[in-house]
Amino acid sequence: MSTVKVLFVCLGNICRSPTAHGVFQHLLDSRGLDHRVQVDSAGTGDWHIGLPPDKRTSASAARRGYDLSALRARQVVAADFQEYDYILAMDAQNLDNLRRLAPADFSGELQLFMHYASGVDEREVPDPYYGGLDGFDQVLDLVENAARGLLDALVARHGLQARQ
Ligand code: 4NP
Repeated sequence: MSTVKVLFVCLGNICRSPTAHGVFQHLLDSRGLDHRVQVDSAGTGDWHIGLPPDKRTSASAARRGYDLSALRARQVVAADFQEYDYILAMDAQNLDNLRRLAPADFSGELQLFMHYASGVDEREVPDPYYGGLDGFDQVLDLVENAARGLLDALVARHGLQARQ
């Protein structure tokens, strides 16, 4: 059975996209769909390659039951456009950068992650890096919302069924 591959992308890969990675993986695990969807995250920037998520990100995520401790930052590479079916950006600037990097024959979906959210006006997950701690909880709120919508869309589009 083929897997659907999803890559979450932000700038540094230490705050927003690792949050999306951990939240979406947790959702897949809890719905018994982890065998059908493969998840990773990356940054368009290179400053934090090899580092674990930001401590504020890890702490906020842990308070909601998400363990991000195994994640390490990496940068988007050309091969990602061959590998992934969905490349989902946290904000418009990262989406623009990804569009510039994407080869003309990229056959997946390049989209804002918040496209999949519902009931909120935000179109982007705001960068929390230079802000207060509230920003990290806001990231989690938006990411949890969009993750639910994304999973519903993948289940419908790809006919995903939970493992027995
Ligand atoms: P992220 O947050 O893109 O959500 O991982 C940031 C992390 C680091 C920086 C900016 C945003 N930085 O400028 O170093």
